[in-house]
Amino acid sequence: MTKTFRTLDDADLKGKRVLLRVDLNVPMDKGVVTDDTRLERIMPTITEISDKGGKVILLAHFGRPKGPDPKDSLKPIAAALSGVIKRPVAFAEDCIGEVAAAAIAAMKDGDVLCLENTRFHKGEEKNDPAFVEELAKLGDLWVNDAFSAAHRAHASTEGVGHKLPAFAGRTMQAEIDALNKALEAPKRPVIAIVGGAKVSTKIDLLENLVTKVQALVIGGGMANTFLHAQGVGVGKSLCEKDLAPTARRILEKAEAANCAIILPVDATVAFHFEANAPAFAYGLDSIPADGMILDVGPRSIERINAAIDDAATLVWNGPVGAFELTPFDKGTVTAAKHAAARTKAGKLISVAGGGDTVAALNQAGVAEQFTYISTAGGAFLEWMEGKPLPGVEVLKI
Ligand code: 3PG
Ligand code: MG
Repeated sequence: MTKTFRTLDDADLKGKRVLLRVDLNVPMDKGVVTDDTRLERIMPTITEISDKGGKVILLAHFGRPKGPDPKDSLKPIAAALSGVIKRPVAFAEDCIGEVAAAAIAAMKDGDVLCLENTRFHKGEEKNDPAFVEELAKLGDLWVNDAFSAAHRAHASTEGVGHKLPAFAGRTMQAEIDALNKALEAPKRPVIAIVGGAKVSTKIDLLENLVTKVQALVIGGGMANTFLHAQGVGVGKSLCEKDLAPTARRILEKAEAANCAIILPVDATVAFHFEANAPAFAYGLDSIPADGMILDVGPRSIERINAAIDDAATLVWNGPVGAFELTPFDKGTVTAAKHAAARTKAGKLISVAGGGDTVAALNQAGVAEQFTYISTAGGAFLEWMEGKPLPGVEVLKI
């Protein structure tokens, strides 16, 4: 790809105080990190800066605190990170002021220090110039490795990038590169699979995608809204009936843009929303009035797989059924395995993102085989919506 931002290759790191924005917003349960993925992803950037003699000063948020709150401290996460990167990670109880300055002054070249949750200060989310200044004076340069927080124009994700020389970290670089290959300059034809419960949360995304991809699979609860908009009776299925006009508008836009919309042609229906509820496949003309569509049906799965065969690139966000309940994960798992096999055979570039999507691909046991899996949730969606991400924009030269 054309390089539009500086990377670590362009940075002089030795002896420098490097403010490194990372995403430490990891899932926690009773003070224990339950999923290390985001910590593993930032390891290459941390170790590279450290090995090149830079002082690694980590900036990150956790949760959505309204002010300092011990339950949102980064301290336990810094300890978990130390275990992942297998090097000591020091901790400072504040991300600005004397506490932070003293901790940084004590660092030797190559040391790693984690500063306390940036959201403990109101200036973070406000991108307040005075707070940006406080952060900026702690460093000589700023590296952003938090793609998953890049949709936020906050002080540590964006503001500091205007004050200090700004560079993309290795994970940010890989993410931008992968996403670029998926939608900006992809190998065509491109297919997108979009699922999830609601159309209402993905209107912008669908409208953007129909102009960029050649085929769009719509699954999950949101497909019911489209089916309803076309006059299909969906029984007691999840369905946003008031969004029927929106669904029709998206279908028209797709047609005008020559994007094939692939909706379910049959459905797996149950009468209770619970795991292992007795389930049956129905054609669209015979969905029972008291039934709930919980997954795409067998003929729909075949169609999705055939559409994947026709594609050179796949972008995936959202499961196509209620994947958290067996057997209603079948459509998602089958299509995921198929996409993984095509990828492995060198026939497909596959990119997926979003919390549920990653969980579904892990459940299918194929996450490793996809070309790229983004750990971003909101940022991945905004990217799919075609919106500029402030934390990426600020890196551009
Ligand atoms: C995430 O976990 O998706 C990012 O860290 C952003 O967190 P936020 O939605 O609280 O801004
Ligand atoms: Mg989020």
